[in-house]
Amino acid sequence: MKISRQGCTRTVFVLKNKVIKVPTFKSFELFLCGLLSNLREGWRYEHFARNDLAKVFYYNRFGLFLIMERIEVCDNDEAHELYEKIHELYQYDKEKEFMLDDLKPSNWGRKDGKLIKIDYGGWSIKKMYRTF
Ligand SMILES: Nc1ncnc2c1ncn2[C@@H]1O[C@H](COP(=O)(O)OP(=O)(O)OP(=O)(O)O)[C@@H](O)[C@H]1O
Ligand SMILES: [Mg+2]
Repeated sequence: MKISRQGCTRTVFVLKNKVIKVPTFKSFELFLCGLLSNLREGWRYEHFARNDLAKVFYYNRFGLFLIMERIEVCDNDEAHELYEKIHELYQYDKEKEFMLDDLKPSNWGRKDGKLIKIDYGGWSIKKMYRTF
């Protein structure tokens, strides 16, 4: 295991080609949020089936962990260009609201030069629950 990254609701263990996302133990509330983030990410990966979402290989049915492909994470220094690029890329996308949700460099990465969303378990979008 290489490094772990701390998100707001999940701790992310970074392996060679994969990452493992586990709900944080910072507080019980954030732990519950982390479970839901994992579940939503798993459901959304299956539902949207898009190649600009980092692949989810497996997620536990209670959200206790989620295994995702490892992606090279975007840098904070490129925030401005990244926002412009993403707004341009997704302006006519039918899932624009979803793709632009929680937009920040640490939630995006690059694979073969293509932008990939790596955190899509957020809750501010309409499809908050599993309605599909
Ligand atoms: N697929 C991935 N490949 C490489 N690193 C990743 C991947 N997914 C997440 N990370 C790293 O772990 C950090 C936290 O992951 P993530 O954003 O999914 O957690 P979160 O708790 O939902 O975060 P947030 O603080 O944005 O709410 C990311 O900012 C990134 O640095
Ligand atoms: Mg994040």
